[in-house]
Amino acid sequence: MRVLTIIPTYNELESLPKTLARLRAAVPHADVLIADDNSPDGTGALADEFAASDPNVHVLHRRGKEGLGAAYLAGFAWGLDAGYDVLVEMDADGSHQPEQLPMLLDAVEQGADLALGSRWVPGGKVVNWPLHRKLLSRGGSVYSRMLLGVSVRDITGGYRAFRRSTLEALDLAKVDSVGYGFQVDMLWRVAQLGLRIVEVPITFVEREFGASKMSGNIVQEAMVNVTKWGLTARWNKLFGAKFPKK
Ligand code: GDD
Ligand code: MN
Repeated sequence: MRVLTIIPTYNELESLPKTLARLRAAVPHADVLIADDNSPDGTGALADEFAASDPNVHVLHRRGKEGLGAAYLAGFAWGLDAGYDVLVEMDADGSHQPEQLPMLLDAVEQGADLALGSRWVPGGKVVNWPLHRKLLSRGGSVYSRMLLGVSVRDITGGYRAFRRSTLEALDLAKVDSVGYGFQVDMLWRVAQLGLRIVEVPITFVEREFGASKMSGNIVQEAMVNVTKWGLTARWNKLFGAKFPKK
């Protein structure tokens, strides 16, 4: 399996070198694509330096900060075009431990269409997260699960391995979530297709350097969208019609 790990970056100068070194050591056969949104701190130039000295590392330079979702979509398009079999999502800040990537890849090898690193299944953990982030993540997962009726525990989690055919089955041009709601959006689409989602317990470690890009707007976008998707699905189920009508 040809594997591409996509790492979106926005101001990750201090975190990226360590994450990249760990990833290259833990899973040497996986190529890397850094999708940088023209970070003011120079993360993009640093990524170029890594790419210059390692043929397995590539960089996608984007115009400016357009959100996590947009960066991943551009990365998926790049990776599908280049012929990769598995496309992985991984944060740059060390929260997604590269040493746990083989577990996700094993799950795909054993038949998962989407392997999801999960903090909220038995064996999953979160290290060094403040209480409000734990509550937000758990609350967001419970709310999304209730509204969307999917049985996945860590619906917002961002450590994932997609089988190529899963991404090809989705209409990626229609995905328009900008923030972290992108993760829920993608999962909801995969679930609606009835594809096989496997949750793999991971230990999520809060970043050592820099700051989270999570914001009120990002939470709001996700909540509004989840509510909309959930109610639309219910409406369609109840009345057997598409809502809204054209
Ligand atoms: N290119 C790009 N553009 N990258 C971005 C942007 C953006 O607009 N916003 C965030 N990122 C990158 C960060 O640089 C980092 O590598 C990764 O996306 C995750 O961002 P963080 O800001 O560290 O996220 P978090 O730790 O608060 O959130 C984590 O938990 C969320 C909720 O469970 C992530 O794992 C999210 O994916 C997850 O949804
Ligand atoms: Mn983080």
